[in-house]
Amino acid sequence: MAPLTTLAALFLGAVASVEGAQDWDSAAFATSPPVYPSPNMTGADAASLSGWAAALEKAEAFVANLTLEEKVSLLTGAPGPCVGNIAPIPRVGFKGLCLQDGPLAIRQATYASVFPAGLSTAASWDRDLMKLRGQYIGEEFRGKGSQVYLGPVAGPLGRSALAGRNWEGFSPDPYLTGVAMEESIIGVQSTGVQAVAKHWIAYEQETQRNPEDTFDKDTIPSVDQIMSVSSNVEDRTIHELYTWPFANAVRAGVASVMCSYNRINGSYACQNSKTMNGILKGELGFQGYTMSDWMGTHGGVASVEAGLDQTMPGAWNWEPTLPGVPSWFGGNLTKAVENGTVAESRVDDMAKRVMTPFYLLGQDEGFPGVDASSGAYPMNNQFEPESDWLESWTAAGAINTESNVDVRSNHSKLIRELGAAGMVLIKNNGALPLSKPKDIAVVGNAAGDVQNGLYYHDVNYEPGVLPVGGGSGSARFENVVAPLEAIKARAKADGTHVQYILNNTRLVTPGGFHDMIYPVPEACLVFVKAWASEGADRDSLELDWQGNEVVEQVAQNCSNTIVITNSGGQNVIPWHSHPNVTAILLAHFPGEEFGNSVVDVLYGDVNPSGRLPYTLAEKESDYYFANITSSVSNPNDTNAWQADFTERLLIDYRHFDYYNLSVPYEFGFGLSYTNFSLSPSITVKPVSNSSIAGVPAPTTSAVPGGNPALWEDVYTVTATVKNTGAVTGKAVPQLYIQLPASAGEGTPVKQLRGFTKIELTPGEEKTVTFTLARRDLSIWDVVSQEWSVPSGTFGVHVGFSSRDIKAKSSFSI
Ligand SMILES: *[C@@H]1O[C@H](CO)[C@@H](O)[C@H](O)[C@H]1NC(C)=O
Ligand SMILES: *[C@@H]1O[C@H](CO)[C@@H](O)[C@H](O)[C@H]1NC(C)=O
Ligand SMILES: *[C@@H]1O[C@H](CO)[C@@H](O)[C@H](O)[C@H]1NC(C)=O
Ligand SMILES: *[C@@H]1O[C@H](CO)[C@@H](O)[C@H](O)[C@H]1NC(C)=O
Ligand SMILES: *[C@@H]1O[C@H](CO)[C@@H](O)[C@H](O)[C@H]1NC(C)=O
Ligand SMILES: *[C@@H]1O[C@H](CO)[C@@H](O)[C@H](O)[C@H]1NC(C)=O
Ligand SMILES: *[C@@H]1O[C@H](CO)[C@@H](O)[C@H](O)[C@H]1NC(C)=O
Ligand SMILES: *[C@@H]1O[C@H](CO)[C@@H](O)[C@H](O)[C@H]1NC(C)=O
Ligand SMILES: *[C@@H]1O[C@H](CO)[C@@H](O)[C@H](O)[C@H]1NC(C)=O
Ligand SMILES: *[C@@H]1O[C@H](CO)[C@@H](O)[C@H](O)[C@H]1NC(C)=O
Ligand SMILES: *[C@@H]1O[C@H](CO)[C@@H](O)[C@H](O)[C@H]1NC(C)=O
Ligand SMILES: *[C@@H]1O[C@H](CO)[C@@H](O)[C@H](O)[C@H]1NC(C)=O
Repeated sequence: MAPLTTLAALFLGAVASVEGAQDWDSAAFATSPPVYPSPNMTGADAASLSGWAAALEKAEAFVANLTLEEKVSLLTGAPGPCVGNIAPIPRVGFKGLCLQDGPLAIRQATYASVFPAGLSTAASWDRDLMKLRGQYIGEEFRGKGSQVYLGPVAGPLGRSALAGRNWEGFSPDPYLTGVAMEESIIGVQSTGVQAVAKHWIAYEQETQRNPEDTFDKDTIPSVDQIMSVSSNVEDRTIHELYTWPFANAVRAGVASVMCSYNRINGSYACQNSKTMNGILKGELGFQGYTMSDWMGTHGGVASVEAGLDQTMPGAWNWEPTLPGVPSWFGGNLTKAVENGTVAESRVDDMAKRVMTPFYLLGQDEGFPGVDASSGAYPMNNQFEPESDWLESWTAAGAINTESNVDVRSNHSKLIRELGAAGMVLIKNNGALPLSKPKDIAVVGNAAGDVQNGLYYHDVNYEPGVLPVGGGSGSARFENVVAPLEAIKARAKADGTHVQYILNNTRLVTPGGFHDMIYPVPEACLVFVKAWASEGADRDSLELDWQGNEVVEQVAQNCSNTIVITNSGGQNVIPWHSHPNVTAILLAHFPGEEFGNSVVDVLYGDVNPSGRLPYTLAEKESDYYFANITSSVSNPNDTNAWQADFTERLLIDYRHFDYYNLSVPYEFGFGLSYTNFSLSPSITVKPVSNSSIAGVPAPTTSAVPGGNPALWEDVYTVTATVKNTGAVTGKAVPQLYIQLPASAGEGTPVKQLRGFTKIELTPGEEKTVTFTLARRDLSIWDVVSQEWSVPSGTFGVHVGFSSRDIKAKSSFSI
């Protein structure tokens, strides 16, 4: 019997079906295993960023010269010019740190760019564009005087299609998200700006994400708060899904990791020793600092011991009428050291973790001062002249004398390119590309310009395009190119007649389209949208503002209806097989150049090359496996809010594949204006003859990203791709691995473990090589607490989507 059979049994317990919550033993998830003490950093190099030891030496010298209060001030947010601030320490010439949202722009700043959202970036499947986006974002943060970029996002991963912040991150597939994290971080940090991988961990819903005061305080004085939702996640799942992309982030040398609002197995993420001390600093060898999400700290000593290094925003009182938020650190931490509760060596490690990335990225040399137009917490755009911090920051030389610095450079070119690359064409009966049409209609409320201002924060406004979503991941725009505006410009050049109706209410009123549009155009472009935002999960996957009905009405009256959805994730699109719907383009959240990007694709100046970073199922209930938990508040139970991740590893395509369910548009799918073929014969080769079965030799000290053996290439897979169509285009060949049966029941049927994007001219053929690292073939072994390669036959599937497999092979271990 293969040893993993027992492990697999442990993974599922006595569960006959992984679907059922009936065998879920809630008691096992009521506590999180204690992992103490918090590991000291060692200055070990990350694979993609070296120089940690030398930077640690500088940090050590710097910290050695600080008083206890000064050290604690590096660990405690303070009022200041930015969304998060570490106060200057003028005595030693330290100018403080300015932390800004993130993740698709420097959120509140003027004269800055708004990039495509993480979702659009993932949908491009383009590593180079991911990295360049990171680099340009980093340049803009630097130009505005912000040392710390609050991004990128790998949590939420996208367990539930309804989660309000999925679009800030990349994809529910951990491999694709891992690549996007790595490329983004390398790009950002190449400019000398710190990246913050967030939100650690299992933060998969907005609903109940923060504690709430109970209604019944007087009746039940013992319970004054219901605690944040607890994400109850089994060990293998937290490793193989939710930790996976963070491992890439740590390996890329990320400066900081932000802990999340939720609890994990009952313990707050910013106070959970298993996830911070154990998984992050222990297994992943993380060398930077952990930072709390804003008001995500719920304890002082307990958080410090569990591995939290910096609390944000610190003590803060943003509304004179509201009580301030306690910092938990600050004076309390100083006192806890003085009275011997917390060892000063722990505070030293915290301070060194904060200062090492600062020196590593050269932030001690020539970093620009904060631009006063960048915006402080929570959302002020200008400094209040009476702010009590202004004098000290100015005296420290931390404020730029110039305001409204224009940091946009030529970034709009990339934004236009990536915006188009992140659009996914899922249906095309020859309607696209448009070729100098004589007469077109542009309809739907997402086609036009915005009418309520250029800072989308938290309102699902009716008229106007949605270049990005809402919440703290939104941004202030300098400029938005709406689809109608760009189409009109193009139409003028082509001599095309453009008719338009942007009022959805009219479009669903009898005759509202039919009686107005004359003549019936050659093509009707329908722009429909779906809002998503931090702070609230979507209450359905329907399009907003009667979007589905708008499409049905137009399709009834126009035999060439081309639908463009503008949305932060999955939608139900019941009209997808309607014969008059001739093309469907999912535009996602493409950023400020939306109109130009979509015109490039619709007219064929850019051949669509985006691929679905998620699965589009037929009905909303098809996604039931990851329902958002929202139990009725029980004022008598502080522990009432529980989210059991009973689906374990089976989210998104892993679910639909496991249960053999058909879906209209699967993960990895997307059309082009050309066709590609992939030769059925592929070559699979081990890199060396030595056996890789089981657990690799352990490392004696921490290495960022975990045991380097996990990242060694162990197999290569080579395939040949050809452009068989008439125009140049980009193919996205994908590699999926099927683990052997010994990986256990509940293991996904196949998992993405490689992809590449290549451009091919008509008739051109190229060879692509995928490399498989040991981690790509491993499962998390809950008994040995190590990654382990199971024994048996591994299936190798190469194709153009998770279900369009063109070539298969296998090897045995
Ligand atoms: C949560 O509880 C499950 C079940 O006992 C366990 O497998 C897992 O390791 C725990 N994880 C954390 C972070 O506490
Ligand atoms: C961290 O280093 C200090 C010395 O600076 C030492 O006292 C402490 O035990 C170390 N902690 C761990 C967890 O190794
Ligand atoms: C400590 O700070 C003083 C200034 O107060 C400075 O002269 C000295 O060089 C500093 N030492 C180190 C190691 O940074
Ligand atoms: C110290 O912690 C207490 C809660 O125990 C809090 O009420 C107080 O505001 C904190 N002090 C500071 C300076 O943060
Ligand atoms: C030490 O100080 C901390 C922070 O104020 C406090 O929580 C703790 O109870 C104190 N311990 C003792 C022994 O006084
Ligand atoms: C933008 O400008 C930079 C620096 O001037 C240049 O290297 C880059 O090629 C330009 N990018 C584009 C897309 O034009
Ligand atoms: C939108 O159309 C409806 C139905 O025709 C109409 O009642 C409403 O006034 C229109 N809205 C605007 C802003 O014109
Ligand atoms: C579309 O056509 C149908 C059938 O002719 C008609 O009843 C309906 O009112 C039209 N819809 C609109 C919005 O014009
Ligand atoms: C398709 O459009 C044509 C032309 O407007 C219309 O006659 C026909 O009924 C439509 N088909 C459907 C299924 O709505
Ligand atoms: C979860 O999904 C099922 C199946 O669609 C549905 O009946 C149920 O109401 C959903 N529950 C929640 C809390 O959304
Ligand atoms: C909460 O407890 C109070 C006092 O025991 C009781 O009267 C009330 O019914 C309880 N409420 C709920 C929702 O259980
Ligand atoms: C799905 O199909 C495969 C292959 O036909 C079969 O082995 C497996 O049992 C099916 N799974 C379920 C849950 O029906």
